[in-house]
Amino acid sequence: MEIRINEIKNICCIGAGYVGGPTMAVIADNCPNIQVEVVDLNKERIKKWNSNNFNDLPIYEPGLSEIVKRCRGKNLHFSNFIKENIEKADMIFISVNTPTKEKGLGAGKASNLKWVEACARQVAKYSSRHTIVVEKSTLPVRTAEVIKSILDSSQEEILNNNENKKKSFDVLSNPEFLSEGTAIKDLLYPDRVLIGGDNQRAINLLSNIYLKWVPKDKIIETNIWSSELAKLTANAFLAQRISSINSIGALCEATGADVREVSRAIGSDSRIGSKFLDAGPGFGGSCFKKDILNLVYLCEYFGLKEVADYWHEVVKLNTWHQKRISKLIVKKLFGTLTNKKIVILGFAFKNNTNDTRESAAIQICKDLIDEGAILFIHDPKVDPKQISLDLGISPIKNINQEYKNDFNKGIWHFAENISEAFIGSDAVLILTEWDQYKDINWFEVSKLMRKPSWVFDARSIINPTSMKNTNINFWRIGEGLLNEDNIFF
Ligand code: NAD
Ligand code: UGA
Repeated sequence: MEIRINEIKNICCIGAGYVGGPTMAVIADNCPNIQVEVVDLNKERIKKWNSNNFNDLPIYEPGLSEIVKRCRGKNLHFSNFIKENIEKADMIFISVNTPTKEKGLGAGKASNLKWVEACARQVAKYSSRHTIVVEKSTLPVRTAEVIKSILDSSQEEILNNNENKKKSFDVLSNPEFLSEGTAIKDLLYPDRVLIGGDNQRAINLLSNIYLKWVPKDKIIETNIWSSELAKLTANAFLAQRISSINSIGALCEATGADVREVSRAIGSDSRIGSKFLDAGPGFGGSCFKKDILNLVYLCEYFGLKEVADYWHEVVKLNTWHQKRISKLIVKKLFGTLTNKKIVILGFAFKNNTNDTRESAAIQICKDLIDEGAILFIHDPKVDPKQISLDLGISPIKNINQEYKNDFNKGIWHFAENISEAFIGSDAVLILTEWDQYKDINWFEVSKLMRKPSWVFDARSIINPTSMKNTNINFWRIGEGLLNEDNIFF
């Protein structure tokens, strides 16, 4: 017999991360009649979500702190009370991490679903009535089947124990398409909301939540497998565009073409479109790589080797591209970086976020450190502790006194003040497109740097005219200089 819920009054979201936090904040803000409880195992993270200092939230996203300020304590709550909040929820979003498996079957490609499975087991155990379980995490196609079978096993237990509870579940797929740095805007004005499922009643209940602020024609309903696969496919297509333009950028540098001009020329074809065609240091972020590798794994699993190889190349090109940048810097600085001071501007994987997961900066900085460079790393939002974790090296506090002793360990220093960092530097490398780097007065900087000095702009944010009249050697991603080397006929 179908157990009915007519209206969603209590939501529980498991996972207070980059997706769970902002998504639930936007739902709470738009649905004052729904109580939204965001729960997480991580005590430190929850403490930060509840911080009185709204600059101390665990995630930096423009516009997020204002929403949290408005709703927290009213209909938006953050806690570690997982059992209690599952028990009272009508709808549960699973928004936990799904990283690439490091060990066992499928290691290096398949998604590690242990956190998702743990959630399903918790829901199976603690839910108290009919519950709609929504997959918010990005998952391999057919994961809903696994979740459903775990949930259904709890019903069998109830029957076996002759318990008098009437538990039942619907599972929906509702993948998230937000980008970090624009999460709030993306959530408020989504291109689409995708809901996959086989029970129209459950789909309508979820849809009604979004309809509070999203126009009806933006809500796409599909079967559950299409929804799961569409999320992986969207990320694969987006990442493929970046690898494509970065590959053409390398060819531009070799031939004297300019990747910005090529992007503009191809992007004005409405079939191609102008977005996501900026050459850069290679895509980062927690998802592109892991989601493509997951797609590759699925293709291999289903015997589609050629399809797997095709998508794998997108990731391989990205890795090659990051290495290409560090090699190019070594080459330009006379083949050695030993004791050369390089200022790194930006460590986050893109601007307007404090997230460094898979940031191109990690591999590039490691390569430069391995070559003996002394890095002065600046980022307006990334915590130096995070940089230490990513590089596996603690920063040097007093660079002048300590660096010679510690040379073999690799040296980096967190640059609080960019102007000071420029003093005596041999090169500056821009890796994140933060606005504040766009207004740097390079004429003044050139007076502080050691000659011959270099600026490497891997984000193409410097207007080349601002480099005129400086004595800085300037390299921009994807810009070829016509000289005898690149005339091949
Ligand atoms: P995250 O690592 O920031 O957050 C996940 C949180 O889940 C962590 O705080 C972790 O402690 C918590 N958690 C894990 N298992 C738990 C359990 N059993 N009970 C309670 N809490 C638990 O991850 P994220 O970036 O928010 O990504 C979450 C999912 O959303 C992933 O599948 C990701 O692929 C997908 N996604 C991410 C983005 C993004 O921009 N980051 C965008 C779209 C989709
Ligand atoms: C990406 C997708 O854009 C989201 O739709 C998706 O929800 C999310 O992944 C996810 O599933 O996690 P995100 O990784 O937050 O979002 O950020 P993007 O704006 O996509 O940027 C990813 C990387 O590509 C960044 O390193 C960025 O600098 C780089 N990029 C992006 C370029 O190098 N060039 C571009 O033109 C665009």
